[in-house]
Amino acid sequence: MSTSMATSPHTHLLQNHNIFNHPTKKHHNLLSLSFKPISIKCATTQPQQDRVFNFAAGPATLPGNVLLKAQSELYNWNGSGMSVMEMSHRGKEFLSIIQKAESDLRALLQIPAQYSLLFLQGGATTQFAALPLNLCTPQDTVDYIVTGSWGDKAAKEAQKYCNPKVIWSGKSEKYTQIPSFYDFQQNPDARYLHICANETIHGVEFKDSNYPNPRNATGILVADMSSNFCSKPVDVSKFGVIYAGAQKNVGPSGVTIVIIRKDLIGNAQSFTPVMLDYKIHDENNSLYNTPPCYGIYMCGLVFEDLLKQGGLKEVEKNNKKKAQILFDAIDGSRGFYRCPVEKSVRSLMNVPFTLEKQELEGEFVKEAAKEKMVQLKGHRSVGGMRASIYNAMPMAGVEKLVAFMKDFQAKHA
Ligand SMILES: Cc1ncc(COP(=O)(O)O)c(C=O)c1O
Repeated sequence: MSTSMATSPHTHLLQNHNIFNHPTKKHHNLLSLSFKPISIKCATTQPQQDRVFNFAAGPATLPGNVLLKAQSELYNWNGSGMSVMEMSHRGKEFLSIIQKAESDLRALLQIPAQYSLLFLQGGATTQFAALPLNLCTPQDTVDYIVTGSWGDKAAKEAQKYCNPKVIWSGKSEKYTQIPSFYDFQQNPDARYLHICANETIHGVEFKDSNYPNPRNATGILVADMSSNFCSKPVDVSKFGVIYAGAQKNVGPSGVTIVIIRKDLIGNAQSFTPVMLDYKIHDENNSLYNTPPCYGIYMCGLVFEDLLKQGGLKEVEKNNKKKAQILFDAIDGSRGFYRCPVEKSVRSLMNVPFTLEKQELEGEFVKEAAKEKMVQLKGHRSVGGMRASIYNAMPMAGVEKLVAFMKDFQAKHA
């Protein structure tokens, strides 16, 4: 099918609606005389020629078909006569949207019934505080395994509300490793063990086989899954809490997802702000106050799309293929490109790499941008390059990057 812009049922949207809500007929006539009908065209398939391949770490690329669906529903959602942005969060229309988003995400991750699913705000950073506030007292010990900057930030924030112990840190190895179970000792009285499942900046990821077993007072494992959420199946029952900012794999920034075992809810410290108290949000089905309605709607469209793709097993297969192509190009470059991360724990989502000739890195990023591949500069704290290849990055984007890398190498080796 052609990717050219095509006329959709919404082409004549503005012609057919009195969008200016003119109070008098006279006024209306005047406007219709002085304005030509406005034609809005909606593409029926992704017009990739108008889009870049966006390798940003987040906010990040979203599936083209999801964006187009949102575009087609923007002005008048499902015949309601309103945009999702204009709806009451307590109205039947939005309730149907949030309920579907919840049931689709439950289906995708096969979330057991004894877990609550919350759509919150404040980003994953807010959860760095909400977790200790909800799960422990100020005197309690908690364990943190720090495999990158985000785990480090989470541990530091927890210091304000409890007594976190960093029981393993990859800092001396520049966060290129994930510990094996024998590399650290857990505190038997710790209230939970915290990991960051995928460190977005450093590109290290816990694989299914190396999630640590919590050997603490409660047996609770907590994971920040912001940057690999919904990129693969996850056995939710291994975790007490999973949390994730939406803006990498599942939607726009502004939505934070928390999956929490129900028995862990209801013990917040007395001074916990209502907005950080899981019990308040759970009792109110994420509608205690005005939620990020449009963001939740977008997440819902992404969940629906992931289910249509065949679910997370299929998604993971695709992600593995994409990552393999990129890592093969890096490893097969005879040292021209290097990925510093230990092979067995390389992230499928965020691929950091450096150039042997460091002085060429600026040129690499600039030249790639000319070819419509953007946001390849590494995080300011580590330098080099980073290609984030989340679910929505098409195979074509990775293939184009790899072709560009080979070409760049041929020119500069
Ligand atoms: C793994 C991880 N955790 C936490 C955060 C912070 O998320 P937010 O900006 O939504 O607070 C990020 C942001 O990039 C992240 O990648």
